[in-house]
Amino acid sequence: MNLKQQQQKQQEVLPMVAAGMAAACPVRTKLLLCSALGLALGVLATMSLIGSSSSYTTTLHGLFLPPADAAAAMNAVQDRQQQPPPAVQEEQGPPPAEQAMIRWPQSSPPPVSTAASIIGSAAAPPPPPSAGVGGFIDVDDDEALMAMAAAAPREVVLPPGASSPKLAFLFLTRWDLPMAPLWDKFFAGHLGRYTVYVHTDPAFNGSEPPPASAFHRRRIPSKEVIWGHISMVEAERRLLAHALLDDHANARFVLLSESHVPLFDFPTVHSYLINSNQLFLESYDQPGGTGRGRYSRRMSPVITMAQWRKGSQWFDLDRALAADVVSDGVYFPVFRRHCKRSCYADEHYLPTFLNIRRPPGAADNRTLTWVDWSRGGPHPARFTRLEVTVDFLRWLRSGAGSTCMYNGRNTHVCFLFARKFLPNSLTRFLRFAPKVMGFG
Ligand SMILES: *[C@@H]1O[C@H](CO)[C@@H](O)[C@H](O)[C@H]1NC(C)=O
Ligand SMILES: *[C@@H]1O[C@H](CO)[C@@H](O)[C@H](O)[C@H]1NC(C)=O
Repeated sequence: MNLKQQQQKQQEVLPMVAAGMAAACPVRTKLLLCSALGLALGVLATMSLIGSSSSYTTTLHGLFLPPADAAAAMNAVQDRQQQPPPAVQEEQGPPPAEQAMIRWPQSSPPPVSTAASIIGSAAAPPPPPSAGVGGFIDVDDDEALMAMAAAAPREVVLPPGASSPKLAFLFLTRWDLPMAPLWDKFFAGHLGRYTVYVHTDPAFNGSEPPPASAFHRRRIPSKEVIWGHISMVEAERRLLAHALLDDHANARFVLLSESHVPLFDFPTVHSYLINSNQLFLESYDQPGGTGRGRYSRRMSPVITMAQWRKGSQWFDLDRALAADVVSDGVYFPVFRRHCKRSCYADEHYLPTFLNIRRPPGAADNRTLTWVDWSRGGPHPARFTRLEVTVDFLRWLRSGAGSTCMYNGRNTHVCFLFARKFLPNSLTRFLRFAPKVMGFG
């Protein structure tokens, strides 16, 4: 970043901080609290400016492979699959037998202090900023949170000595995370290359995951989410905002649900995402009732019918697009006002935003999450324990019968994740993971 850009950035950041403060400090809030928040915001903005200028060059050179190296990157992905599963260093987590049995979210009655009371429900007064679950900034006003996140660096900033950008795994869940033990196996041994954020129902009262778990104290301050409602997109933006603020090394942002499972080991997923020269987000024009039919003329002229797009909710964004999403004060308010009832904002907001804000081809028009829509209806098929077999997993890992493009080349590695798997399939996944997926 040169001096001019730096100054420009400074000019952009400061009004946003001010806006964030104004929004965060309604008249009823105590003056003292607001001053503290203002100070914190100021420090945050300054730190992000210093940080973004110092390691910008590191990011550009050496970390992301130029397209010419795409073939090599893809080979690396393919090679790794053919190798025998690497020995996973058990840096974290209890021994296998114990971990397989952990169902921490629903187990014993939780101590009163863990969930709802810390998140700050509507009834309890909100805790002071930066005292949320897992130490996340707890600002009740979403717009204030978005303004703070908009001031975070748009580029990946690696701390001194760090060798690799991080993947941010954003779990949008209704309640608990039954697949957590499988994910813990997936993350084991890769500390420092990933971050985890969980948005759950604010009434969630399950016990806190054990300290060895990747999910320990990773719950962000959450609000109620209604399926297909704009509140779902609000939760996605909250996850993105916290991930942008929390760790400037977060380079890719993947949205997942409680019924998601990984199909490959962590090094494969990390390499696939970090070395990709595109992001993965479906965005397409679909005539008919479930596509253009959900557009409302009231969105015009800000969003026109020609700009309206549809796509799977399950995204993979890069840092720049994530930053644009939290900074969006133009399109999101129009969605909130006019995308109601059978509009399904989660299937349209990001696809439409991408279409408006990025040139064609900026994203690979596909999702990395496999789901089975073949049985029809508004929900994809759900899989039970007995349907999870070695053959089925191998089929999912080889593109589920199709091919796709990765950095300009054809590949069968199209899906890194799959859903929707019922909690009772966990033991099968834990059993097959070492043999089929190379971890656990
Ligand atoms: C947790 O919440 C559920 C649903 O609201 C309720 O049925 C259950 O009794 C609660 N459990 C505890 C231990 O508070
Ligand atoms: C994008 O993907 C969707 C869903 O797979 C497909 O229906 C559509 O034709 C694709 N559009 C383009 C422009 O590739």
